[in-house]
Amino acid sequence: MGRPFVFGGIDLTRIAVIGPGAIGGTVAAWLSQDPDISVAVCVRTPITDLVVETPQGTISAKPAVLTDPGMAGPVDWVLVATKTYSADATAPWLERLCGPQTRVAIIQNGVEHVRLFSHLVPENRLVPVMINLPAARTAPGRIVQSRHGIIAVPAGRNGEDFVALFAKTEIEAAAHEDFLSQLWVKLCGNSVAIVPALTLRAAGPVWNADLEAIIRGVAAECAAVGRAEGAIVPDSVVEGAVSNMRNMPEGSVSGSIHVDRLAGNPMEVDARNGVIVRLGEAHGIATPMNRMLVTLLKASGSPWIEGQATEAR
Ligand SMILES: NC(=O)c1ccc[n+]([C@@H]2O[C@H](COP(=O)([O-])OP(=O)(O)OC[C@H]3O[C@@H](n4cnc5c(N)ncnc54)[C@H](OP(=O)(O)O)[C@@H]3O)[C@@H](O)[C@H]2O)c1
Repeated sequence: MGRPFVFGGIDLTRIAVIGPGAIGGTVAAWLSQDPDISVAVCVRTPITDLVVETPQGTISAKPAVLTDPGMAGPVDWVLVATKTYSADATAPWLERLCGPQTRVAIIQNGVEHVRLFSHLVPENRLVPVMINLPAARTAPGRIVQSRHGIIAVPAGRNGEDFVALFAKTEIEAAAHEDFLSQLWVKLCGNSVAIVPALTLRAAGPVWNADLEAIIRGVAAECAAVGRAEGAIVPDSVVEGAVSNMRNMPEGSVSGSIHVDRLAGNPMEVDARNGVIVRLGEAHGIATPMNRMLVTLLKASGSPWIEGQATEAR
């Protein structure tokens, strides 16, 4: 157990970021630019500092680095930025970081932020976050943010307080009455990346009518399930996902599950496509394209989080 870390300055907002990878590291670095915020990062792999190349130039930060949950104490905000399949691994951190007032923002892809964390944090203190911010880690603590970042959270006190944290950053944060639609629109775009994750090449150069039908089918199933869940997902979102895939240049790597498969890492397949199959079943909506591709990816021998799909709580 490490020595307990004490945040400096009682007037500062204390934020702990669990998982300073591409997203957590970028968000931690941006928040560290605000003198009214004190940031600590909770790491699995130690880092010394953060350097992020952003569209606005390079920013750097030296947050406190906590390497052991024993070093942590209650904070105002916890930001969880691990992959979806690492949700349960954050439990020892959350146990130490959460006091009676602590709010916990889950910055992940997918639509199940609350389901994955509601057994760890009271639901009235959980804030699901949709983030559109392409970022890649080049080394521990070294990140390239390639485009402007956008964050969406649900309307209400927690969402609005979370948005306020980003007031002095270049990340555009907003609270939305219809947050559900934000999640499903993003998932539609993400869902089609399962195709290059399987083929291990950009879809564009090998585009044909049959491939287009599969890709459109994946996104259309996602839209149908999202609509059954109550989200507004216009057909144009499906067509946008198709045209993004069609226009991918040779050699491009599309989507983090493609990156993770190439790197031999576990993939967020359940959070991005398995969920469409599971929720489709619950609504009586057939999802043959997603079911087939999830099954094939699972059969490819790539790292896969066994049992995640059946861990529904
Ligand atoms: N990257 C993007 O462009 C992007 C865009 C939008 C949304 N997202 C979503 O954002 C989420 C995070 O993705 P990412 O790309 O930032 O992943 P990432 O780069 O792999 O970062 C995940 C971080 O979590 C850390 N971690 C895992 N288990 C931990 C634990 N028990 N304690 C402390 N840290 C732990 C990892 O540690 P190690 O350093 O040891 O690996 C890593 O630093 C995902 O849901 C992803 O789909 C990503």
